[in-house]
Amino acid sequence: MKILAFAASSSRNSINKALVTHATQRLQAEFLPDAEVEILDLNDYEMPLYSIDREREGGIPEQAQRFFEQIGQADALVISYAEHNGTYTAAFKNLFDWTSRIQQKIHQNKPMVVMAASPGGRGGAGVLQAALGAAPHFNGDVVANLSVPRFGSNFDAETGALTNPELAEGLGQALKTLAERLGSV
Ligand SMILES: Cc1cc2nc3c(=O)[nH]c(=O)nc-3n(C[C@H](O)[C@H](O)[C@H](O)COP(=O)(O)O)c2cc1C
Repeated sequence: MKILAFAASSSRNSINKALVTHATQRLQAEFLPDAEVEILDLNDYEMPLYSIDREREGGIPEQAQRFFEQIGQADALVISYAEHNGTYTAAFKNLFDWTSRIQQKIHQNKPMVVMAASPGGRGGAGVLQAALGAAPHFNGDVVANLSVPRFGSNFDAETGALTNPELAEGLGQALKTLAERLGSV
């Protein structure tokens, strides 16, 4: 069983990366002890800004090919989206655009837990809505989602865990739903 996780952010200190790391640790500890987890860093997938002209001249870069194959090899995805100006970060959107040129259905029917974390009170509501709305068009099978507002107050950076009981419970429910979908609960 392979779980692929990433934050849709290229920040070195990404709060969304902290959240996917915590989520996948809990997934292994509580539901899928034998699962292999791989957490990607979007900086390893940096490419020129997508344009149809670049694609015609040079084809699709290796990073997008690799990303698409890694999704294909996974049994499930855990993604946490950073919100920039109400939607995806440019780093993720560029990867998304290049990868969609390999095949538009980039999520490849994988069950997904989709999250968004923000420092402020909206919990990445805009980007979460964008991701949830888009998922069916890209063959994403979203089994659960979670918004985490006020990350600094609700997550302990030292222990790497959610401290807010309701959010911790919400994450547990989301992970349980994913494990059930994978036939492991
Ligand atoms: C260009 C830019 C735009 C941003 N826009 C939003 C926004 O629309 N909503 C929001 O909640 N936070 C916004 N933020 C703050 C980010 O949510 C914050 O930087 C967060 O840490 C990003 O997640 P990350 O640490 O995983 O990259 C923005 C930050 C930047 C640099």
